[in-house]
Amino acid sequence: MNQKVLEELVKKNKQYCCKGKNADYIPALAKINPNQLGITLYNIKTNETLSVGDSSVRFAIESISKVPALLLAIEDNGLSNVLKHINTEATGFAFNSPLNMEINHAKHPLNPFVNIGAIETTSLIKGNSSDECYRRLLTFIKEICHDNTISLNEEIYQSESKTGDINRSLAYYLKGNNMLSKDVEGVLEVYFKQCSLNVTTQNIAMMASVLANKGMKPWDNKRLISEESATLVKSVMTTAGLYDESGEFSAHVGIPGKSGVGGGLMGVAPNQFGLGIFSPPLDSSGNSLAGIKLLKDVVDELHLNIF
Ligand code: DON
Repeated sequence: MNQKVLEELVKKNKQYCCKGKNADYIPALAKINPNQLGITLYNIKTNETLSVGDSSVRFAIESISKVPALLLAIEDNGLSNVLKHINTEATGFAFNSPLNMEINHAKHPLNPFVNIGAIETTSLIKGNSSDECYRRLLTFIKEICHDNTISLNEEIYQSESKTGDINRSLAYYLKGNNMLSKDVEGVLEVYFKQCSLNVTTQNIAMMASVLANKGMKPWDNKRLISEESATLVKSVMTTAGLYDESGEFSAHVGIPGKSGVGGGLMGVAPNQFGLGIFSPPLDSSGNSLAGIKLLKDVVDELHLNIF
């Protein structure tokens, strides 16, 4: 694909920005300019990057941070130990719902991407204090995104923390059922901060390219995570990366994906591309509306559907 074709696809899909709605349960996200659409494609075979539209705009990573948090938890504990705490099942419920656990009488969160599982995952990151856990995660995210300038968006963090009562209820639910070994408020502080990191589509495409390249950083051919961990994470992205819309996303787009309520969308085309997209207005499941449409067009154009 060349720049011109990608520009055409961005132009075609920009009209969908007005069909969605910015997340408003976090006030700082509600006021972001909704009329934005940007994409970066990182080709792991040629190490070339193609960016179009609002690809340098910094936005809150939100739930896409659940991917590096899971990768670091696996690096810290080993995959089999992480899977003793969190399952890998789709939930069919909204990202912040506790119902999935109640209905299934679940002994562990159903997957690491719904909030209750992500909070559990974050609690597994090693460190002597919540600040150390956060610092370690930030360092890992800078490395996997190949960008040392990634930093906290203080306004989003304050907003997340102030309005995070549903997440608090999920964390206390875990603690009350003996599923969380650390101090609840400390774990939540790391979780709120990881969601509030500012990234660009270029950062997201780089992270996706490491997964596409089986855990090796394509830009220097050094291994960052194990192949086993990259494989597991891609498979959970396929079944749960877009919450209760994951089935439809797999059926119609057909690559592992992970969304965030800041409007970010990560796509992984195994052995080929890492993709990062940004467009703030969301659909009813909390996923970037124009972002999904653009990703589908790119996947179709490049014949990347893994199925
Ligand atoms: O936990 C939350 O509510 C947010 N900080 C992250 C949620 C999110 O991004 C869900 N994704 N689409």
